Amino acid sequence: MNSKDIINELKKLVENQCKESSNVFGYESWTHHINIVYKYSMMLSDKLKADKEIVQISALLHDIASVTDINMYKDHHIHGANMAENILKKYNYPINKIAWVKKCILSHRGSVLIAQGSVEEVCVSSADAMAHIDQLPSLLHLAYAKKNLQIDEGSQWVKNKLSRSWNKLCPEAKELIRHKYNCANELLA
Ligand SMILES: [Fe+2]
Ligand SMILES: [Fe+2]
Repeated sequence: MNSKDIINELKKLVENQCKESSNVFGYESWTHHINIVYKYSMMLSDKLKADKEIVQISALLHDIASVTDINMYKDHHIHGANMAENILKKYNYPINKIAWVKKCILSHRGSVLIAQGSVEEVCVSSADAMAHIDQLPSLLHLAYAKKNLQIDEGSQWVKNKLSRSWNKLCPEAKELIRHKYNCANELLA
């Protein structure tokens, strides 16, 4: 199977997993998050001249553990990297590229400093944070419907979340999402 076919297969696999009743985050985890991360990761990959195939595969699989089993949520970057390895081995994907994808998935969580990673890691972790900024209704839903916060507490929570996501972005990602970030902050002020 060539890489284009593998990517298409992965899209179906991840989207179907997001539809499963075992995914507590619901189908929105595909439509309002993973698919958005995928879109932004490709835009960044062009800007940063990253390996697009590695970036695409890593973006599609970066939250695979979370949407499979909530018990893996806390360490979903670690479980996700291992799951990606198993999935990609079935497609006979090259071992050296699997290791590269695993690194991107492992480092997509906030604690890893952007400057330390490869350009492909930067694309995935920045695209993940961009997707949060892009999806203001999802953040509002989380604050008011899931966390049951009051109006001011909720908008403050969303503002803090937006600011944490903004601080994770590489300069190229900031350039792409600045307008939405400013608009969101203006609405929440
Ligand atoms: Fe994640
Ligand atoms: Fe994510």
